[in-house]
Amino acid sequence: MCGIIGISSNKSVSANIVNSLKKLEYRGYDSVGLATLSDGVINEVKSEGRVNSLEQNFDIKNLKGNIGIGHVRWATHGVPNSINAHPHSSHNVSVVHNGIIENSTILKKFLINKGHNFKSQTDTEVIVHLITENLKTLELEEAITKTLKQLHGSFALGIVFKDIPDLIVGARRGSPLAVGYGPNENYLGSDSYALKAMTNKITYLDEGEFCLVKKDQVLFFNEEGKKINKKILELSSNEANYDKGDFKHFMAKEIEEQPTTIKTCIKEYVDSLNKDINILNFPWKINEIKSITLIGCGTAYHSCLLAKYWFEELTTLDVTIDIASEFRYRKNRFKKDALYIFVSQSGETADTYAALDLCNKNKMKTCSIVNVIESSIARDSNFVLPIHCGPEIGVASTKAFLGQILVLYILILKLSSLRNEIDIKLYHKKLKDLISLPSLVEKTLPHDNDIQAISPTFNEAKGSMFLGRGFSYPIALEGALKLKELSYVHAEGYPAGEMKHGPLALIEEGMPVVVLAPRDDYYKKTISNMQEVIARGAKVLLITNKSKDEVVSENIWETIEVENTNNDLLPFLLTIPLQKLAYYSALKKGYDIDKPRNLAKSVTVE
Ligand code: F6R
Repeated sequence: MCGIIGISSNKSVSANIVNSLKKLEYRGYDSVGLATLSDGVINEVKSEGRVNSLEQNFDIKNLKGNIGIGHVRWATHGVPNSINAHPHSSHNVSVVHNGIIENSTILKKFLINKGHNFKSQTDTEVIVHLITENLKTLELEEAITKTLKQLHGSFALGIVFKDIPDLIVGARRGSPLAVGYGPNENYLGSDSYALKAMTNKITYLDEGEFCLVKKDQVLFFNEEGKKINKKILELSSNEANYDKGDFKHFMAKEIEEQPTTIKTCIKEYVDSLNKDINILNFPWKINEIKSITLIGCGTAYHSCLLAKYWFEELTTLDVTIDIASEFRYRKNRFKKDALYIFVSQSGETADTYAALDLCNKNKMKTCSIVNVIESSIARDSNFVLPIHCGPEIGVASTKAFLGQILVLYILILKLSSLRNEIDIKLYHKKLKDLISLPSLVEKTLPHDNDIQAISPTFNEAKGSMFLGRGFSYPIALEGALKLKELSYVHAEGYPAGEMKHGPLALIEEGMPVVVLAPRDDYYKKTISNMQEVIARGAKVLLITNKSKDEVVSENIWETIEVENTNNDLLPFLLTIPLQKLAYYSALKKGYDIDKPRNLAKSVTVE
């Protein structure tokens, strides 16, 4: 959460900082600010709200300075207003921060006793005054090293100094930070996405490291303050992917491009000529893996939950799933013969990273399924399986969810085949079906009119429920999550069979209930559960797959039929109408679809 940019150049930097902040807005968008340095003065401008409010409130283009830092905020300590917005400055130091300082209360007391005055409610301001304090007695690098050691918690920092006209200091612990290299200028940024418009030459800081960025030189240091050398990576740049094209929102574009993204991913992994799956350089022997633990947050966790059903269907491996924020603090019994799989679109989610770090420290086998291959989770895993779906900008995950479940399914099929747990003919049949999945997704997309007509009912109701059994249960959870995060209405996902154990009490006349009942092994049971909610007055939206057999039930409010395929692949198709339901509900309400309130795309705080 929060996005950082810093530029040290031989020309004015304010316009480029603002452009980069616009790109970083997906990381936080409740307040924004920047500081430039000119003629020994720190020029600080800050605003509540988005980058365009900063542009409206200040004459940014005329803000002088060849060096500067900027920040978009997702509030943790202190309400989102212009005082709590970053940068925070003392008389000689200005800081932007992504993360949380856990010992800020103690440090604040210590600094107040030393005579420092605080203006904001943020934890970040202690960093500013701590550096100012340490600079009284120490040289720059020693002051930075000491300050970083005094801070508990997580941070990525960008720091400028009134008396050092050409320097930005960057530091990283727990939150991502990258350095970029350009002609007569160098950069600091939360991620390569913010820097890509300016450069594709990047160095990622690792845990505990800090750097000194000048327009013509970058130096790196470890946490002891010792100089280190780091590699420069060249990233492939494809700016076109970051464009909304003709779509009103990134989310709409990302839903519609799913046939293409999954086709690309299938091509990466499935060798249709040899009827096999290519997972190259898998670092372990198959008999070294006896169990699987899948870990993620939010939508990525739903991917893990679905994978558990596939694992159990196609292998005899023991499978556990976990929410990263729970896993990281539990007394885990680490098992040498377990494979720990981390699922994350961004590859930067703090809880998922901490869970991975814990496994690495316990010398476990770690594999990550990510979209951003330069991310911290990808870099620190033993093995990476990218989902190849291109940048996902809408905060609500859509194409990345399909990408995650696709790669999980491919991995599971491959493990099943390597473990001789699937008949070769069935394996080939499932691969053939998989290759036809993009065209089935394509055919499932055009339900817009029906869904647009249905969506006001979900917006107007007190709440709604999403029900499914088996493979459809994780999809029900995902559908409910999408609706609540975009439309701000209460929605709950439930296993259909659990309704009578409590939630059935919620059902009342006219309550919208989505029932996911594809014609799979659970179909009849789910239809019975559907009748129980209809009998209590629910307005049921049934989502099933096409079949020659009619659904035998009365009083279904609306039905959407997705394409037909083998049972394993139905979850992909069931997801599509739910993504659209959330999209159109939010559109009707006029909400900010790509940036729902209180959320951020990359959750780099715990
Ligand atoms: C919901 C959503 C979030 C993310 C979660 C994990 O639409 O996008 O629930 O899935 O914050 O993010 P990643 O996948 O980046 O680890």
